[in-house]
Amino acid sequence: MKVPMLGFGTYTMNGNQGAQGIHHAIDAGYRLIDSAYNYENEGTVGEAVRRSSVPREQLMITSKLPGRYHSYDKALITIQESLYRAQLDYYDFYLIHWPNPKQEMYAEAWQALIDAKRWGLIRSIGVCNFLPEHIERLKKETGVLPSINQIELHPYFNQEEQRMFHEEHHIATQSWSPLARAKNILGEEVLQEIARAHNKSISQVVLRWQYQLGSIAIPRSSSHERQCENMAIFDFSLSETEMSKIASLTRADGRLKDQDPAEYEEF
Ligand SMILES: NC(=O)c1ccc[n+]([C@@H]2O[C@H](COP(=O)([O-])OP(=O)(O)OC[C@H]3O[C@@H](n4cnc5c(N)ncnc54)[C@H](OP(=O)(O)O)[C@@H]3O)[C@@H](O)[C@H]2O)c1
Repeated sequence: MKVPMLGFGTYTMNGNQGAQGIHHAIDAGYRLIDSAYNYENEGTVGEAVRRSSVPREQLMITSKLPGRYHSYDKALITIQESLYRAQLDYYDFYLIHWPNPKQEMYAEAWQALIDAKRWGLIRSIGVCNFLPEHIERLKKETGVLPSINQIELHPYFNQEEQRMFHEEHHIATQSWSPLARAKNILGEEVLQEIARAHNKSISQVVLRWQYQLGSIAIPRSSSHERQCENMAIFDFSLSETEMSKIASLTRADGRLKDQDPAEYEEF
């Protein structure tokens, strides 16, 4: 199955209400569903999959390994625990959530993902928040490159260099917080103007921009109406000028929470 160019984020979508929201997202047409061990919602995602009439093999489910389980043995136990929590037989994607470079354990975790893939627990393995130097190290130590890198990417932080690096290494880029959490961005005049010109919403313009950059955005919404709105981005296109106007919103300090993977750690 081809990886969809738009997926669904699930951070804070938990329990019965979360399962309902994710089920609605599948109904709206999303086929790639993100989750993480640390969101404590792998079970919720599994439940949404079971509630849906879409067959499991037509869905792509992602989860992520937390920083506290980077040792080889703990990583393997955690992958199995993620499957148990979701009550799934396999994950389509399993990613290392943060490199935590000061711990120097991510290459060991990567070896566990490589082996879990070999044993059929995971279809495709990747990373999140890895800088080029971290990816180079994986390559040097294991010879295996990630299939995707999920990174913070939105108009305030467009990750141009990192995207070029991915392209050179045939790594797919996935954008987290693709709507920059839909706060200040909704008031940006540049975006309002482009949205008016296309008779689209600002969120649709931002997601279309992500698509034209070649990145797989995974917007989250608990509202079925906004889930549908965010899917309706394939019937218009942005001009070169509009693309560069959006690019001009980017800033060196544009990360939402200053989470620079070279320094920031998450366990
Ligand atoms: N790998 C990592 O380290 C990492 C880090 C952060 C996030 N993620 C993943 O990326 C996913 C997406 O990022 P995110 O959840 O941080 O932020 P996001 O998708 O950029 O924004 C989500 C927010 O935008 C609102 N929203 C969505 N569509 C909208 C629309 N059309 N109009 C107005 N508001 C809209 C939502 O509110 P409503 O629910 O009310 O619609 C929600 O508050 C996460 O859910 C998670 O799966 C990964």
